[in-house]
Amino acid sequence: MSKLTTVRPLIAGNWKMNGLTAALDEARAVAAGVETDPPGARVAIFPPATLIHRMADALAGQTVAVGGQDCRPEVSGAFTGDTSAEMLADAGATMVIVGHSERRGGYGETDALVLAKAQAALRAGLEPIVCVGESLEQRDAGRAIEVITGQLRASLPVDALKGEAFAVAYEPVWAIGTGRTPTLNDIEAAHDALRTVLIELFSDQGAGVPILYGGSVNPKNAADILSQKEVGGVLVGGASLKAADFLAIAARA
Ligand code: 13P
Repeated sequence: MSKLTTVRPLIAGNWKMNGLTAALDEARAVAAGVETDPPGARVAIFPPATLIHRMADALAGQTVAVGGQDCRPEVSGAFTGDTSAEMLADAGATMVIVGHSERRGGYGETDALVLAKAQAALRAGLEPIVCVGESLEQRDAGRAIEVITGQLRASLPVDALKGEAFAVAYEPVWAIGTGRTPTLNDIEAAHDALRTVLIELFSDQGAGVPILYGGSVNPKNAADILSQKEVGGVLVGGASLKAADFLAIAARA
């Protein structure tokens, strides 16, 4: 590992709406790579909902975790097209992403809804990854830190999360899928601000919550990003779709 930490970094691959049956081979290759050359990191893949069950079966007994990309707060009901946290757990997921900017932006998800989703994740025994991130307009207006700390405070079900495993992901909206990343100083400033909020809300527990960076992470920039003091992992989109790239990123942890 590149730095002293008591918590292993988390290398998370968000496949978004990508992946048919054949893509299970990539997940198998990731698991095989992690078996033969174990990184000093936890590794997790978040495939589309249609692949969760088969991926969990394919990776059973291996160290790569499988997670959902979203969940609805309710346990069940007349919610056409939605998936509950219990359903994800039943399919073999152990984690779930909530509040991704593609959900916040594309579906108008509010902080309050993200909070309810994180609560549902805990109810179902899933480890939530709660995402925050500013838009380019907000960054240009000098409001990035205010926006992300505000999102974090309003998106975390603090009482329910006490003593539970969870992670936070900082994903600047303008860095997602664009090949652009913030400077290392900007990443560290954002993570420092999020850490301060976590310690304020959770005391000692808040010091150990992994804060992932996400947005155009690739095998070339991963080492620098992961070496920042408050970066506890990465949430990888495009570069997680190929096992070789994803393993190369995990190897930098
Ligand atoms: P990219 O790595 O493709 O920029 O996506 C980041 C992301 O949104 C992960 O959740």
